[in-house]
Amino acid sequence: MNIKNAATEHPILKLLAERWSPYGFEDRPVSDLDLRSVFEAARWAASSYNEQPWNYLMATRENQAEFEILLSCLVEANQAWAKSAPVLVLGVVSLQFAKNKQDNRAAVHDLGLAAGNLCIEATSRGLVVHQMIGIHQDKAREIYGIPKHFGAWTAMAIGYKADPATLPDAIKERDLAARQRKPLHKFVFTGKWGQASPLTLKKDT
Ligand SMILES: Cc1cc2nc3c(=O)[nH]c(=O)nc-3n(C[C@H](O)[C@H](O)[C@H](O)COP(=O)(O)O)c2cc1C
Repeated sequence: MNIKNAATEHPILKLLAERWSPYGFEDRPVSDLDLRSVFEAARWAASSYNEQPWNYLMATRENQAEFEILLSCLVEANQAWAKSAPVLVLGVVSLQFAKNKQDNRAAVHDLGLAAGNLCIEATSRGLVVHQMIGIHQDKAREIYGIPKHFGAWTAMAIGYKADPATLPDAIKERDLAARQRKPLHKFVFTGKWGQASPLTLKKDT
């Protein structure tokens, strides 16, 4: 089994277990066909009032100038590894409902749902996605002319995972480390805050 696959305590869908966030990317472009489908998957995410508040700015390394501009919107620590990915995407969210200009409290949640869909579609195509909160929001607004009431929220590096043997030590270590998660009883509660749900204390039979 791939060391990066989730070591689940209960069965989950194979694609969910296989998704992970590598730091090392192969120098290999992603086809337009695959990219269209990963955005199509985002398109079909659920959203509050079907507002679909997500928007994406995308750059591929095939257009180096565009790529460098998007890369400059990431914080330096993220630029260091994301520069090797063939595709960068900035997730921009509409923070108000288009219809009535009221605040959309679900907007960022829905951007996350779209990202979840996108990641799973990407995984099904042999791609990997590494999401980032570390971006320069104001710089992105200025560079791309992002309107008021929209926010550049997260970025994604998309591509093919590199063979860890080809990576510098710091990146290799992170890409070979086993993935960690809290156990269910630490976050599924029943009755009162912090009280593990009995559901989580039972084994599957
Ligand atoms: C919304 C979001 C923001 C993230 N921001 C960053 C980031 O700025 N830099 C980074 O290296 N990783 C970032 N990550 C990746 C997480 O660190 C990673 O998903 C987490 O450690 C779990 O690892 P896994 O995705 O391999 O299961 C982010 C992930 C998400 C979902």
